[in-house]
Amino acid sequence: MMGKIQFICRKPGKKSIRIIERDHKIISPSLTREYSFVFKRARGCYVYDVDGRRYLDFAAGVAVAGIGHTNPVIEKALHKQIKLGIHAAFSDFYAELPLEFSEFLLTFMHKQLDTVFLSNSGTESIEAAYKLARWHSQRKWVIAFENAFHGRTMGSLSLTKSKPVQRGRYSPFLPVKHAPFPYHYRMKMEPEDCSSYCLTELERAIRLKRGDVAAIFLEPVQGEGGYIVPPRSFVKGVRKLCNEYGVLLCDDEVQSGCFRTGRFLAIENFGVVPDVVSLSKAIGGGVPLGATVAGRKVMDWAPGSHANTFGGNLLACAAGIATLKFMREKKLGQNAQKIGKHMLKRLNELKDKYEIVGDVRGLGLMIGVELVKNKKSRMPAVEERKEVLCKASEKGLILLPAGMSVIRICPPLTLTRQQADNGIDIIEDSIKELNRR
Ligand SMILES: Cc1ncc(COP(=O)(O)O)c(C=O)c1O
Repeated sequence: MMGKIQFICRKPGKKSIRIIERDHKIISPSLTREYSFVFKRARGCYVYDVDGRRYLDFAAGVAVAGIGHTNPVIEKALHKQIKLGIHAAFSDFYAELPLEFSEFLLTFMHKQLDTVFLSNSGTESIEAAYKLARWHSQRKWVIAFENAFHGRTMGSLSLTKSKPVQRGRYSPFLPVKHAPFPYHYRMKMEPEDCSSYCLTELERAIRLKRGDVAAIFLEPVQGEGGYIVPPRSFVKGVRKLCNEYGVLLCDDEVQSGCFRTGRFLAIENFGVVPDVVSLSKAIGGGVPLGATVAGRKVMDWAPGSHANTFGGNLLACAAGIATLKFMREKKLGQNAQKIGKHMLKRLNELKDKYEIVGDVRGLGLMIGVELVKNKKSRMPAVEERKEVLCKASEKGLILLPAGMSVIRICPPLTLTRQQADNGIDIIEDSIKELNRR
């Protein structure tokens, strides 16, 4: 028997309550809902609940609505395609639309990355990269980083090490060694010291496996782990080690890609070209779509060695083309850079003002605000983070958590300066209320 539902934050409206009650009866309890928001509709940077409340969305459907929610260009593309066909079985038959999407996608990438595998989600785009690395290298081991999040199917979960519950009772895992990631704020080190410490540990991990390392999986900016931006020297150092030891650099851009950090791929901010790239989330404009891209020489697997049923789905590809076109035409990368810079400046002012704001970091519109008990101890303010999220939602702002006590800010890339300011005002008011208490 289910107990009485505990509503997170303030009690939601009547319609929301009814849906939450139905949900709790039959939907898998493995999902995590941060607060009692019940989605009804969304447009641009706003989402609306079933009781008619409007919220400014700093979560963008978990970094999916890069071009804004329910963008008319997606509506148009889907309507046009739905009349022509939805599913072409691209793994077994040729079709022009998935090809057109892939050709267009490659125009956003370094010319060395010229071959595409299509799928439907982030985890699938990582599974493809993982299997490709093992196929190509014929090696067994893979290195990922502490705090990393690469997905939840068994291959990508083996790479993931962000929250203990995600790995929970699922061992044994695939052969993955985790090396430290330069989270210098939490490791209480200077960025460059932290970077060289982590690179030394990474090299040690590679050597330990004696020529049997296929790939290193890297989020250029760690997402779920806490929106952690590594020093440039670290990402460059990872590339150098990959070159020295003949290991593939697999770049997870599922969350950080598609101009979220200003550049199409976050790794471009560090002046590094990877061997394999995994993309999803924002690339489909809200429609499930994943892509794994590598050079032809790397993507050398044999027919039948990897495929799927829905990869190259026609609706997804139509949405993907419309999304990428919109991003390029509207220069969303530039907007992410400009608004992101402004937000970082304002959030840093909060850091100077409030003891609870320990660290502010980010690239473009991928920004983390780490809450701590106090600046000296840097103890994660876990409960307080939860409260800030609740209070913000009550005031009409959707935020998500990341890491132990980080507020994750990943709004649509169409965000205006006014909307950015409105959201930050709400964050500040929520922090002030905590302080008063
Ligand atoms: C960096 C990264 N990789 C992979 C994934 C997995 O994507 P999906 O949830 O679509 O399987 C996520 C999801 O949040 C992610 O942030």
